[in-house]
Amino acid sequence: MTSFPARRPRRLRSTPAVRRLMAETHVVPSQLVLPMFVREGLTEPQAISAMPGQSQHTLDSLRRAAADAAEAGVGGVMLFGVPAVRDAVGSGADDPDGILNVATTALVEEVGDALVVQTDLCLDEFTDHGHCGVLTPAGGVDNDATLERYASMALAQARAGSSLLGLSGMMDGQVQAVREALDAEGFVDTILMAYSAKYAGAFYGPFREAVDSQLTGDRRTYQMDPPNAREGVREAMIDVDEGADIVMVKPGLPYLDVLAEVRASVDVPVWAYQVSGEYSMVEAAAANGWIDRRATILDSLTAFGRAGADAILTYWAAEAAGWIREGL
Ligand code: PBG
Repeated sequence: MTSFPARRPRRLRSTPAVRRLMAETHVVPSQLVLPMFVREGLTEPQAISAMPGQSQHTLDSLRRAAADAAEAGVGGVMLFGVPAVRDAVGSGADDPDGILNVATTALVEEVGDALVVQTDLCLDEFTDHGHCGVLTPAGGVDNDATLERYASMALAQARAGSSLLGLSGMMDGQVQAVREALDAEGFVDTILMAYSAKYAGAFYGPFREAVDSQLTGDRRTYQMDPPNAREGVREAMIDVDEGADIVMVKPGLPYLDVLAEVRASVDVPVWAYQVSGEYSMVEAAAANGWIDRRATILDSLTAFGRAGADAILTYWAAEAAGWIREGL
């Protein structure tokens, strides 16, 4: 006697209409955040060769690109500044006339009602040695001296109009230091998003060109070690304890295990950052005709949603938002 399957999961995959109704995960444009680069002194946008399709913006082209992103329905933009002059303590970071702060005010004016204008809070773009903090005489990164710089940078960004500060430096105590500084000046509504489980490693390679990074060496004394997932959960819990409103896991796809564990362990929003190396790999393969670009990008965004991400920083934010809205 032939034995037929008693359970037929394929039934729920039989037509496009059935599959649409059965989808467990939906990524919507408002969950997407577009990282953008603005460079001081540029007269024309400058293409980032390691990230095809991405540019360092002038103030004007930044405004236009942010307006396009708002039109596409993205939830926010995350701004990174590339200064013309750098020094040991990253003075451009908390200078009210520094490029990041000036650009923030411009973006708030341009798109501040349509989406959440966010700023990267870290010193690496502003220091002449490229580290995320100030250095000790011996050349190490001085955690507690860096916290004072972050507190000052946070106030400059809040005064410039940033609604959400992305603390990406991986210094111990950074959330608490920044929260206390903001609260003392009355910026009680400024949102803190902590890059809690930010791993060191190779996936940030193309970003170095995007911000003209001055770094030689690596960030392994402050960013996390790739083998450690439990420690990522611990970092997220410490940040929530210090007052983080949102925690993040970064890079993205290679760390979805950590994302899912963090999601299960905290009750604040959990974000993911699909970083430059992830972007460039897909663009390179697509340019060679080896993969279907749009389908691959949409699959990857769905994977973040499935793992539990509440929002995703992705360089494809505006383009993908357009596809999602059109139901492509
Ligand atoms: C540090 C920072 C980095 C990225 C975001 N914030 C670089 C680093 O940690 O080395 C990388 C983002 C990307 O690769 O897309 N301010």
